[in-house]
Amino acid sequence: MLRQALPEIKTESLPGPNAAAVIARRSAAIPSAIRCAYPVVIARGEGAMIEDVDGNRFLDWIGGVGVLNIGYTHPEVVEAVKEQADRYFHGMFNIVTHEGYVALAEKLCSIVPVQGDKKRAFFANSGAEANENAVKVAKAFTKRPNIIVFSGAFHGRTMLTMSMTAKKAYAKGMGPFPDGIYRAKFPYLYRNPEGLPKERELDYYLESIQSVFEEATPPEQVAAIVVEPLQGEGGFIPAPLPWVKALRSICDQHGILLIADEVQTGFCRTGKMFASDYWKAEGAAPDILVTAKSIAAGVPLSAIVAREDIMEAVPGGVIGGTYCGNPLACAAALKVIEVMERDHLADRSAEIGRVARERFLRLQENYPVVGDVRGLGGMLGLEFVIDPESRQPNPAFVNNLVQEAVRRGLMIESAGTYGNVIRFLAPLTMTDEQLAAGLDILEASIQALL
Ligand SMILES: Cc1ncc(COP(=O)(O)O)c(C=O)c1O
Repeated sequence: MLRQALPEIKTESLPGPNAAAVIARRSAAIPSAIRCAYPVVIARGEGAMIEDVDGNRFLDWIGGVGVLNIGYTHPEVVEAVKEQADRYFHGMFNIVTHEGYVALAEKLCSIVPVQGDKKRAFFANSGAEANENAVKVAKAFTKRPNIIVFSGAFHGRTMLTMSMTAKKAYAKGMGPFPDGIYRAKFPYLYRNPEGLPKERELDYYLESIQSVFEEATPPEQVAAIVVEPLQGEGGFIPAPLPWVKALRSICDQHGILLIADEVQTGFCRTGKMFASDYWKAEGAAPDILVTAKSIAAGVPLSAIVAREDIMEAVPGGVIGGTYCGNPLACAAALKVIEVMERDHLADRSAEIGRVARERFLRLQENYPVVGDVRGLGGMLGLEFVIDPESRQPNPAFVNNLVQEAVRRGLMIESAGTYGNVIRFLAPLTMTDEQLAAGLDILEASIQALL
């Protein structure tokens, strides 16, 4: 069974003949701007495994970039979607009420760790759309025009979220951009400015928020501060909890809403159902939580959750959309959450993360190209450098590593401002044998390149 299988490359080279034919058709029919670095054409997926159209089997540690925490085609999720498909696909929520939307909103209100007792939730189709909606909600509630985002942030590719996203390669030639978005420094502790004493580092990053208040927008004009609890595209950089607590205090002091972008960190990825559960335990829960990706195991869906008085400040007509909260997606999400809770996938994430981190730390000891190992639960990053002293980023090594690993049947992806981080986003339903096989392939690939 593919679900339990180990990686196996059967064709002499990659892509195999059937995959090569589809990839050639892709090149002819689809803009090359929609890039793909992998010679893989999927025929089916189960758990953490992909079988391609030539019968090659890959262990997928990218999981659709964090979409498949529950794995490909979880049988119970497939059943829930089929059962819903037999009844109706679409029920636009401004026209008819469908119970799946209501039940999912109720469930999220009961588990999402935002501040407040009474909460409300609504849905969109993608992470970017959800972030746009969260900003709209924050502006409606605070009646303020500006937001603060961070260096290294990724929030999406729509006009607003492209402007919120730090890396300008994602927005090349797309200006003019919306006004009122200001950027402070995210605590990327591995790349602190030279000479910054350890005990000063958090103050240094907090001062950059004060600088925004002084030089760009007064705090009373700021509706929200938007932050990823663990930056994804930015290089798998966790936000230190003491910094988050300070951020919470700044928000409280100035009546600013704290928005957690949990598009990539949500749904058990970091060892809790949401990374903001760690914040809540420190008394620093966000005001609005945005999530997407793994919420519905690959059926497009995203969610925005906040306490009732914040949500109720939004004027009618400002939020919503044709497909938002699609019935198939809601059915999938309800089953995903049920399975995650029942099967303790947050604990499994912590366990997978523990095993992988141990091995990654050994790689760091043995191979000087591994500069840093970091993350939370099953969301880990390995930062590659030329050497540990200079910490100069080594994106060339990472690009080669991605290709070497896929030739051996392991799919991994790069991330980071400098493209020099390997991200670990393996499905949490991966078996122990698959995890061990993947770790061996990763090490063998590093060795082969050295
Ligand atoms: C933290 C974060 N926010 C937003 C997005 C955008 O999500 P989408 O691609 O679904 O629009 C992503 C996607 O990678 C993300 O990682």
